[in-house]
Amino acid sequence: MSRASEPLLSVQGLEKHFPVTKGLLKRQVGAVRAVDGIGFDVVKGETLGLVGESGCGKTTTGRLITRLIEPTGGKIVFDGRDITHMSQGRLRPLRRDMQMIFQDPYSSLNPRHTVGAIVGAPYRIQGIKTEHGVKRAVQEILELVGLNPEHYNRYPHEFSGGQRQRIGIARTLALKPKLIIADEPVSALDVSIQAQVVNLLEDLQSELDLTYVVIAHDLSVVRHISDRVAVMYLGKIVEMADRTDLYGSPMHPYTNALLSAVPIPDVRRRSERERIRLQGDVPSPLNPPPACRFHTRCWKAQEICRKVEPPLTALAPGHQVACHFPENLSGDAPPAPAAGQEKEPGTISPVS
Ligand SMILES: Nc1ncnc2c1ncn2[C@@H]1O[C@H](COP(=O)(O)OP(=O)(O)O)[C@@H](O)[C@H]1O
Ligand code: SF4
Ligand SMILES: [Mg+2]
Repeated sequence: MSRASEPLLSVQGLEKHFPVTKGLLKRQVGAVRAVDGIGFDVVKGETLGLVGESGCGKTTTGRLITRLIEPTGGKIVFDGRDITHMSQGRLRPLRRDMQMIFQDPYSSLNPRHTVGAIVGAPYRIQGIKTEHGVKRAVQEILELVGLNPEHYNRYPHEFSGGQRQRIGIARTLALKPKLIIADEPVSALDVSIQAQVVNLLEDLQSELDLTYVVIAHDLSVVRHISDRVAVMYLGKIVEMADRTDLYGSPMHPYTNALLSAVPIPDVRRRSERERIRLQGDVPSPLNPPPACRFHTRCWKAQEICRKVEPPLTALAPGHQVACHFPENLSGDAPPAPAAGQEKEPGTISPVS
């Protein structure tokens, strides 16, 4: 993984506010702030995990990056080109380079088409291979994703859920994309086969030099595949770090809560992490809580959390957090004490 290279994807201040209208005149009465100013880079060959509860804006982010929908703010640079408001016509050649894999492996495959037709469609649409060439190319890809190339003429219903997701992946790979956005690629699958599909994505990455954004609502799914992880809450990134830092020393209370919901297989280690139960539901992005959006559910919330929005700040190298009272802060850089709480020089404060 060449972490030092140029970013393949760079997102800055990205926003999608869906207008909410009322009455015959469709007067705009508000906006769903589905994605509300997020930024990150993904370098070539890297996997960024994007995690958060349902409704926090993950799918919208994926659809914005692949320009299936138009951003209302911010900037998207892909492979050196600003594609934020690029016209569909100019986007067409780039569409081959960025592909999305969807959650439901069944509804995204046409039940009346054979696997050969589904996986071969991208070649046929672009007219880049002869019919014989298409068949050979499709069979190669089927083999690559662990399906039997002899099953070329079978229909989606003849396959299991895991195999259908492999068909979806095969179709995505047909045009050799550079970037793949996998939107909850395994959440519709049996837990027993989730790991197989994640492993397949990982194997394909090194084989085909792919760059991934893998979306999940659960931190356990992206743990092994991600180089870095961004945690989203109500349209914002609240924490972003290298995998080892994020899972080893999470700093945002929300990340801690998500992690405490992940079962720890080793019984001896269970006591290390107390289970935090998140109170209530995710508030509506139509009317998000002011300042820190997590304050309505945070057990550490103070007055300042309701008044001042904590900016996403690097508190350790490569580790960004948006919280006034971060956890697991390593010794040498304590947070500035709140106004009026400065310590007298020379006094030793008790260890809390
Ligand atoms: N086309 C749309 N019009 C209005 N609101 C939308 C639209 N698409 C998504 N939303 C809203 O945006 C928020 C984020 O949705 P989504 O990106 O699908 O979240 P996630 O994938 O994290 O579950 C949700 O509140 C959802 O209802
Ligand atoms: S800023 Fe305050 S409310 Fe928000 S996560 Fe941090 S401690 Fe909790
Ligand atoms: Mg989604």
